[in-house]
Amino acid sequence: MIMDDAMSVIEIISKKRDGAPLSEKEIRYFIDGFVAGDIADYQMSAFLMAVVLNGMTGVETVAMTRAMMESGILLEFAPSDGPLIDKHSTGGVGDKISLMLLPIAIECGLRVPMISGRGLGFTGGTLDKLESIPGLKTDLAPDRFAELVEMLGGCFGAQTEEIVPADRKIYALRDATATVRSVPLITASILSKKFAEGISGVVIDVKCGRGAFMQKADEARDLAESLEMVGREMGRGIRTVITSMEQPLGHSAGNALEVIEAVSVLSGKGPGDCTELTHRLVAEMLLLGGLVQTQEEGMERSAEAIASGRALDRFARIVEAQGGELDLGGEDLGLPAAPVIKAGLAPRSGHVAMIDARLMGELIRGLGGGRFEVGDEIDPTVGFRLHKKKGDKASRGDKLFEVHARNDIDAERAARKMLEGISIIDDPVSSPQLFL
Ligand code: URA
Repeated sequence: MIMDDAMSVIEIISKKRDGAPLSEKEIRYFIDGFVAGDIADYQMSAFLMAVVLNGMTGVETVAMTRAMMESGILLEFAPSDGPLIDKHSTGGVGDKISLMLLPIAIECGLRVPMISGRGLGFTGGTLDKLESIPGLKTDLAPDRFAELVEMLGGCFGAQTEEIVPADRKIYALRDATATVRSVPLITASILSKKFAEGISGVVIDVKCGRGAFMQKADEARDLAESLEMVGREMGRGIRTVITSMEQPLGHSAGNALEVIEAVSVLSGKGPGDCTELTHRLVAEMLLLGGLVQTQEEGMERSAEAIASGRALDRFARIVEAQGGELDLGGEDLGLPAAPVIKAGLAPRSGHVAMIDARLMGELIRGLGGGRFEVGDEIDPTVGFRLHKKKGDKASRGDKLFEVHARNDIDAERAARKMLEGISIIDDPVSSPQLFL
């Protein structure tokens, strides 16, 4: 990059540090320079921390989203074959909804060119979950990605060197520099990926609670408003839903374990919260795509796609097309399994009042299921299976969860810590509200 006299990298970082708004040109210069390798990781890290501390105006957030989106190629699809609508979640623990939602939405008439992220901080990522399927590739070349969308209605892709390279590089850095929790950074990260897909609209599940980046309702609302504002400014349809992430979603958390649970939802045997949330989000997508008139109609269409077996069949075809080998009839679908499984037992009788989703996410990361540093390898096998959820009755000695680990020491430690994050009280506890 030839250094523009009027703009220096240090000046841009200093401006943001001092809380002054940046121009669209300055933001683009910074993002382009970083993607080109002319701005160092440590300079981008300083910039990101300044954004975390000082925020961004709406105009800056739009500029950041646009600059990131245009850092790579923009996909385009023929307009005639069904509305192009996607869904994204701001990230949680046990959130495997995209895995079931994509094939269901396709069966309901949408096209879903989904570009997902990896695990970030203590939250899991759709790509890491999918890559626990032996052979499955998510780093599809843009031509192959487009071909799969044309052939199968959608597929699961990753940001590559070509598609939104800025987010790929920034996302990895944020994970390692404690700069994840920021409304403008999350907004730009999500929408740059989504809008580069060539979609006309996106449904965003804004997670709120201990197991989410947004822990309080007002933070979640701020993020939802920021996403909607950027969507409006960039001329795309957006619907946001705010949902609870106090306890893990479903009964499994951890990469391969979540794929198994996703298949159980697609087989009509999944946990109620996962199934309900999937139907609701599919309904929002169908509303956005103009394929249904009411939420009820959308939810019925979604349930029908599961009941008919079509959604599971579509999932299997997409996995196969992406090189994955899934044994739908076999034990645990033929996925790799952890060598050690240890139960966590209820220390007393009562009602489960709290299961700390954030702690579970951190423990999975510690077990090897997430990353502490950019290049860390993921162990797909580790994680938790919950046998009780909030509101359930438990007797002393009942199994509350199973931890899946690489060795006895890890399993012992994670089980002990997880028990500290589960509270059991005498009084009955009502089941938590999923939609906030
Ligand atoms: N999901 C994303 O894609 N980006 C973020 O920054 C957070 C969640």
